[in-house]
Amino acid sequence: MNNFAFLAAKSDYRQFSKDCIDAEAAFKNSYDSCVKLVRTAVDAAVKWIYSADKNFYCDSDKLSDMINAEKFRRAIGESLFEKINYCRKSGNAAIHNEQEFSAQEAEKCLRNLFDFVQWLDGRYNQNFSARSFRSLTGDDDLLSTEICGIEMNTPILTASGTFGFGEEFDNFVDLKRLGGVMVKCTTLKPRRGNDGVRITETPSGMLNCIGLENPGVDTFLTKILPRIKDKMNVIVNISGSGVEDFGELAKLLDVDGVAAIELNISCPNVKDGGIIFGTDERAAASVTSAAKRATSKPVIVKLSPNVTDVTKIAKAVESAGADCLSLINTLMGMEINVHTWRPTLGNLTGGLSGGAIKPVAVRMVWQVANVVKIPIIGMGGIRSAEDAAEFFLAGASAIAVGTANFAEPSITMKIADDLSKYLRSCGLKNIRELVGKIKI
Ligand SMILES: Cc1cc2nc3c(=O)[nH]c(=O)nc-3n(C[C@H](O)[C@H](O)[C@H](O)COP(=O)(O)O)c2cc1C
Repeated sequence: MNNFAFLAAKSDYRQFSKDCIDAEAAFKNSYDSCVKLVRTAVDAAVKWIYSADKNFYCDSDKLSDMINAEKFRRAIGESLFEKINYCRKSGNAAIHNEQEFSAQEAEKCLRNLFDFVQWLDGRYNQNFSARSFRSLTGDDDLLSTEICGIEMNTPILTASGTFGFGEEFDNFVDLKRLGGVMVKCTTLKPRRGNDGVRITETPSGMLNCIGLENPGVDTFLTKILPRIKDKMNVIVNISGSGVEDFGELAKLLDVDGVAAIELNISCPNVKDGGIIFGTDERAAASVTSAAKRATSKPVIVKLSPNVTDVTKIAKAVESAGADCLSLINTLMGMEINVHTWRPTLGNLTGGLSGGAIKPVAVRMVWQVANVVKIPIIGMGGIRSAEDAAEFFLAGASAIAVGTANFAEPSITMKIADDLSKYLRSCGLKNIRELVGKIKI
């Protein structure tokens, strides 16, 4: 009853809140009746929108016409529109064809309705406290975990620089289902990034030289964080040109709504981007201690693969107090246009990411897991649940998806679903049982 019961208290929503609550309650007994009730609730919600909101005028009484009305589609966005249609179609099939539904399908309907309710909440400013959908089929129990005191519904995060500030993906993913969003790198002052071509596709990956473009920490704190802090675990990736910058940033970000701070000491794409800190043990340790001294938040140190022995840096930052490690950042690469004889990228070189780097990343996670005790967030080329499972077996406690988000914005949700199936097929009860279980 938890997810929708809160709606009943608000008179505006009464018209369909009962259907929502009934749908949730029905789920426990009968999946297909749950689907029917979800459909009824969606229909009631759409009717309510049209009666409550003059922007949604539609000169038809037919629900399907109302739902398909251009204004409605535009306002709710394509992804939510598809979800609502899925609920209605499933409900129709249940009513007219007496089709049986699996628990997973019924849950999908309920989850979609939940997204819709959250959207309504935002639109009509009802200020309900943000709450995440809790799986009723037990999938979230399989995936739920905790790292450095941060509770995560799944161990699947998104890698910095590939997922904006998370809110851009609101229509594609259930942000609460992610373990966290490692937001785009933040620096003390705004940065406009590198000039010229910044991205080029490579076999199974891409080269980028964005150059840490970002609006700066003040804008992040005043404008962006208030918008996103209740929607997800926000992990702020920071970079600076001196040890003091990291300390100052860590202090400024020691605020409500920031779950952890990730030190980007490994950006290969800017002259002052911290790569020196990531390739020198002493420098890496001093940046880590500066951040640790300045904040009460967990400090995650992001390691560079552009080193001879990654374990030395890992041990150095662990000794300096790091709470967690994330690896790997991009591998330094280059592409030359053979027609112009010039480098493709404006910055001449860039960072290689995507499927091509996965074996390097898995190797490094495995090497590091053998020498440190703190948890590891593994990343580099993850595109599927099988890819993710490799990282867990190598010793990662969580994973982050980067470049794959560009090709398929909702890929993290698919990875979560498939990872649950994989765990079930292995007879495991929780993802933690897979961590470090590589057989040598
Ligand atoms: C376009 C782009 C921008 C990135 N920006 C950042 C960044 O701001 N800070 C950071 O620590 N890593 C950044 N990265 C590195 C990713 O977070 C990740 O470590 C790397 O891409 C490997 O994962 P992947 O192969 O899944 O993309 C960026 C990567 C890409 C492709």
